[in-house]
Formats: sequence, C-alpha cells, structure tokens
Amino acid sequence: MDVILKLVKNIITIDGPSGVGKGTLAFSLAERLGWNVLDSGLLYRLVGYLSFKEGLETSKEIVLFLNKSKIKPISNFNEGICEIELNEKVLGKELRNENIASRAAELAKEEEIRNSIIKIQRDAYDSKIGLIADGRDMGTIIFPEAALKVFLQASPKVRAERRANQLKEKGMSVIMHDLLEQIQQRDEEDTNRKISPLKPADDSLVIDTSNLSIKEVEERVMKNFKKL
Ligand code: C5P
Repeated sequence: MDVILKLVKNIITIDGPSGVGKGTLAFSLAERLGWNVLDSGLLYRLVGYLSFKEGLETSKEIVLFLNKSKIKPISNFNEGICEIELNEKVLGKELRNENIASRAAELAKEEEIRNSIIKIQRDAYDSKIGLIADGRDMGTIIFPEAALKVFLQASPKVRAERRANQLKEKGMSVIMHDLLEQIQQRDEEDTNRKISPLKPADDSLVIDTSNLSIKEVEERVMKNFKKL
C-alpha cells in the first residue's frame, strides 16, 4: 500500500551533482524566505574529515565517534555558507577541499554511516522557520514530504568551471583537468551507489542550470513555490 505523505510547504529540497549551484541557490532562497539552510554534503564531508583526522578506518569506528559527538549544522548568513559545530568547535573551511569530498563520497556509500546522520539532518528543520535542504537525497529520502523538490543539473564542464572559480576565490590553486576528473568520478559514485543514489524525486522540478544565471534559476523556483 502506498503511504500518502502530508506535504510540507516550508521545506524546499535542492538535489543535484556537485558544482551545479545548489549552495548559492539555497542561500539566496533562504534569505528571501527567511528560512534556514541545511548543506547535507557538509555532514558527509565531516565524516570524511574525521576519518582522516581521527584515524578512523571502519564505518563502525566512524559511527561510534559520531554517536558520542555533539554535531549541529549552522547557517552562516554573513558568509553565505553552512558550517558544522562539532563538540563546540566550528568547522567550515577545513571541510571544503576535493580530497575530503572524495573521501566523503566513498563513505557515503555505507548504509550505517548514512543512517547515523539521518536524525541530524531531519532535526535541522524547525517548522516555525522553514528549511532549504541541499544534497543528493533530500527529496527522495530525508524530506520526501517537502512540497517543492528541485533537482539541478548542468554539464560536467560548466560544473567544473564553477567549482574552480569557487576554489580560486578561496585562494586555492586548481588544476582544471584533475578537478573535472574528480567531479566526474564523484558523480558516478553518487549516481550508481545502491543506497540513496543521486536522482530526482518523481515529483521534482528539474532545471538545467548550464545556461542560466543564479537569478534566473531562483525566479523559476519562486514561481513554482508561489503556486503551492
Ligand atoms: O555536496 P557536497 O559536494 O559537499 O557533498 C560531498 C559528498 O557527500 C557527495 O559527493 C556525496 O557523495 C555525499 N553526499 C551524499 N548525500 C547527500 C549529500 C552529500 O551522499 N545528501
């Protein structure tokens, strides 16, 4: 029997591959609506970071560490980025590099790791405020009750160029060929994994952002939001 979900209007999910503009769109919508932002990728990056930093080798060790830690996602509107409070320490920049992202994608295939952070993600929603949730499985698994689910896509080349610009703005050096290869490999892993693969929910609004400005994407989403 199909379960009928009661749709929630103050959650918008934004899923899609890396470098497609999810984060920028999430913050511009959140500012406009006065909602919070959940960057779920940052939680998987935290898992990758901890596996390196704490020398945790197995999923079991990682889950034990996560279970005994205090983890809270934060929307930092001053900088337009999300951060994570881990046992009172705020992490942000440390998590944003391609090595951590690749490790995150490897570990994100593990069911016990995914299950251990479901509650943190769902708890990021405060029904009095509203939430823009950005990731790979926000519309399909974490917030299937969201009334508006957006799925962004763009060509790998465009996405690699956008990611390169973001990294350069942060003063990081970029080798374009390597970046494109890393992005394509990560997309392949995210799309083909067995659990919570990257895919649009059946009722998603799918937008190809390759030739659109952020403002144009935002207007399309808002047009659909206003119809709810
Ligand atoms: O979004 P971001 O590029 O920071 O995500 C890093 C990695 O975390 C992704 O490549 C993906 O493997 C994993 N991830 C996921 N599910 C999410 C968000 C991210 O599996 N909801």
